Amino acid sequence: MKVLVVGKGGREHALAWKAAQSFYVDRLFCFPGNAGISKIAETPDIADDSVESLLDFALRESIDLTIVGPEDYLAKGIVDAFEAKGLRIFGVNREAARLESSKAFAKEVMKSANIPTAAYSVVSDFESGEKILKNSKYPVVLKADGLAAGKGVIICNTYDEAASELSQMLGGKFKSAGAKVVIEEFLKGEELSLLLLTDGTNVKRLLFSQDHKALNDGDTGLNTGGMGAYTPVTSGTDELYEKVNKSVTLPLLNELKKRGIDYRGILYIGLMIVENEPFVLEYNVRFGDPETEPLMFMLISDIIPYFWAIAGKEKPSGGRNETLPPFSTLEALPELVWRSGYGMCVVLASGGYPESYEKGKIISGLESVDKNCEVFHAGTKFDASGNTVTDGGRVLMVTSCGATITQAIENTYENVRKINFDKMYFRHDIAHREKERNN
Ligand code: AMP
Ligand code: GLY
Repeated sequence: MKVLVVGKGGREHALAWKAAQSFYVDRLFCFPGNAGISKIAETPDIADDSVESLLDFALRESIDLTIVGPEDYLAKGIVDAFEAKGLRIFGVNREAARLESSKAFAKEVMKSANIPTAAYSVVSDFESGEKILKNSKYPVVLKADGLAAGKGVIICNTYDEAASELSQMLGGKFKSAGAKVVIEEFLKGEELSLLLLTDGTNVKRLLFSQDHKALNDGDTGLNTGGMGAYTPVTSGTDELYEKVNKSVTLPLLNELKKRGIDYRGILYIGLMIVENEPFVLEYNVRFGDPETEPLMFMLISDIIPYFWAIAGKEKPSGGRNETLPPFSTLEALPELVWRSGYGMCVVLASGGYPESYEKGKIISGLESVDKNCEVFHAGTKFDASGNTVTDGGRVLMVTSCGATITQAIENTYENVRKINFDKMYFRHDIAHREKERNN
C-alpha cells in the first residue's frame, strides 16, 4: 500500500521508520518531513500545509493510508476531511480531538465519568481567578485551555506568581488558547505515559513509558516538549495497567460513546501515580513525542495492520482500499509484541530552547552512530550545500536500547557523544528514576 505520514518531528520520523519496515508498505511519503525522514520516505512538494492541499495530494496519489502525527491537524479536522472523501486515515476526528484541544472540556468529561484527576476550576476573567488563587494551596497549576504548543502549563509556587501568570494568560500570552484557564490542584508523584490504540471500544496497549519534561538534569528548569524518554517502566506494572483500565480507560470510552463521540486513533493518557493510585494529568489524542521514538524502536509487531483496522472501522466501501489485504478488526489482532530490555532516547536540543535559539548549525557525526542506534530527526533540514543543519528547538532524538537500563543508558549516551553541533544541549540523566530503581 501507499502510506502518507503527516508531520515533521521526531515522532513522525519514528512512525515513518516503523512504517517503512512494514510488510505491507510499498511506497512511503511524509509531508512536510525533515532531513532524516527524507532518507526513508519521499517528501513531496505540496503547495502548502493546509488540510485541503494534503487531501488533494492523497486523492491524486491514491494514498491507501494516512497516519497523522501532530494534534493541530487533528483539531483542524484532517480526519473528517479525508474520511468524507472515502480515504483511510489513522487519527481521531475533530470532535474527539477536543479531548486535547480543550483542557476544560477534558476535565469536564473526566468529572462526569468520575475519572480520578486533580481538583480544578475553569475561569475566563481575572476577578474570579483571583478569588480561587487566594484560597488555593501552593504550588498550583495553571493551564491555558487551548493548544499552546506544549507551553501552556505553568506550575506556580506562590500567589503572586500565579496571579501574574493568570493575568498574562487571560491577557493573550497564548492568544485565544488562554481565553479560558484551568486552575488545578498540584499532584505530587511519578509521571507515566500510557499510549493506547483504540477503535472506541477495543484497546491494544503500548508499554508504559516515561518522558522528562524539565529542561535540566535533576528535573529542574523550564518545562519543555520533552528532553528524553524510555520504555518500559518498572512502576508501570500489569496491576497498574488494570487499575488504569478500570478507573480511566473504560469510563472514558463509555463517556465518549454516551456523548456520541467516535474515538478512533491513539489515546495518550498522561498519568500521575500518587501513592499507587493513577490520576489523569492530561489526555493527548496522538502519539507522544519523545515517547514514540523508544516505543517504535522496541516494537516488534508490524503496526500497519493496527492502524488499518482502526482507520477502517467506519470506512465506506469502494476505492483502491478494497483490493488490499482485508486485515481483521482491532479486537481480533494479537497484543503487540516487544523486544525485551529497555529502549530510550535522548533529545539533542538547540542551546536556548525552549526560549529563543539559533538555527542553521551544521550537524556532524550522524554517520558514525552504531547499528543498534537510530537517530530520529526533529528540527533538521538540508542547507543549500547539502549539509544537515539544525532547524528547530528539539533537533535529534538519539534512540537505542540495552538488556538492562544501565546498558541502554550507556549505549544511548555513547552515541550521543558522536554527534555535535554548535550550542548542542542535552540532559545527562535520562531514565534516572529507572536506574535508581534497578540499583
Ligand atoms: P501537560 O502540558 O498537560 O502535559 O502538562 C505539562 C506538565 O506539567 C506535565 O507533564 C506535568 O509534569 C505537569 N503537570 C500538569 N498538571 C499537573 C498537576 N495537576 N500536578 C502536578 N504537575 C502537573
Ligand atoms: N511527551 C509529551 C507529549 O507528547 O505531549
